Amino acid sequence: MKIDLFTMVDSGGCSAKIAPKQLEEILKCLPLPDDPDILVNIETHDDAGVYRVSDELALVFTTDFFPPVCSDPYEFGQIAAANSISDVYAMGGTPMIALNIMMFPAEKLPFEAYIEILKGGADMASQAGVRIIGGHSIDDFPPKYGLAVVGYIHPQKIITNAGARTGDILVLTKPVGTGIILAGQRLGLTAETDVSQAKSIMKLLNKSGAEVMKRHGVKGATDITGFGLAGHALKMARASSVSITLNLSTLPLIGSTYELTDQGCIPGAAFRNLEYVENEAYVENNLDYNLKMIAFDAQTSGGLLMAVSPEKADKVISELHNKGLDTSAKIGFVTEKMDRYLYLNR
Ligand code: CO
Ligand code: CO
Ligand code: CO
Repeated sequence: MKIDLFTMVDSGGCSAKIAPKQLEEILKCLPLPDDPDILVNIETHDDAGVYRVSDELALVFTTDFFPPVCSDPYEFGQIAAANSISDVYAMGGTPMIALNIMMFPAEKLPFEAYIEILKGGADMASQAGVRIIGGHSIDDFPPKYGLAVVGYIHPQKIITNAGARTGDILVLTKPVGTGIILAGQRLGLTAETDVSQAKSIMKLLNKSGAEVMKRHGVKGATDITGFGLAGHALKMARASSVSITLNLSTLPLIGSTYELTDQGCIPGAAFRNLEYVENEAYVENNLDYNLKMIAFDAQTSGGLLMAVSPEKADKVISELHNKGLDTSAKIGFVTEKMDRYLYLNR
């Protein structure tokens, strides 16, 4: 029996996230635990929580799971695991151990599909040096998979989304467009080469990007996932109390992302992200509509967005290129807080 996970869901990967506006309303109602050893909590909407164990050691803790982004169970497992582990890299941490989180429709999928998903996850984890030491499963449809990951970091070396400083250059390590490419695939419009390019990008660990940013003492970063480039940039600007300008014509794109956007392949998640960001963003007059919507496209297992001091930016880019992240580019810059948090320009 040929298993096709992709046809089981309307929106997979990080496009399946709850709308950011709703999520913020919900989180606002929660009490925040008060403990001086909590170094990063949900207040700044960062990628992971960080807890100090001793003066030399803090734990980085995060979880992500989602419905299928592709047809093949093994590849889905790989992508979901790379995406879950990414939040530890985005904080500058070293991922260490993980638990499987699985929701599998026992009646609707053959057994080998579960095994393949878990194998893909295990192989990606081992590529990251992560040991999976347990997990939990629930009978549920559509299937969902991901990891809860624990990493470690020196408490003085945490990289947060609150670390962007005026004058910094914004560097993005992976091209964008996964949501649009997959939406086009559903409509039969995306070329097979573009689908496979998107899959390789989603499978790529943010490990080497994180190594470069650690070596250069980068203080501010986040990874680009469900809220899109613009949504995550807004969170960074807010947490850092700065303004961010994105130059959207410099954005590296996956294959035919632009053409597909022009044909209307814009997933619903992009409009939810737009709604979230709109009031705090200034969109330049005459900004190309397609470029604007690409900035809001929900990414699955997207790249790192780093705020790099201007004198180091070129060195950082050339090291990223040397590591095979050959579309890494400068896509914007940080200024002191202006009227709006986010400026979307050509
Ligand atoms: Co993240
Ligand atoms: Co996450
Ligand atoms: Co349990």
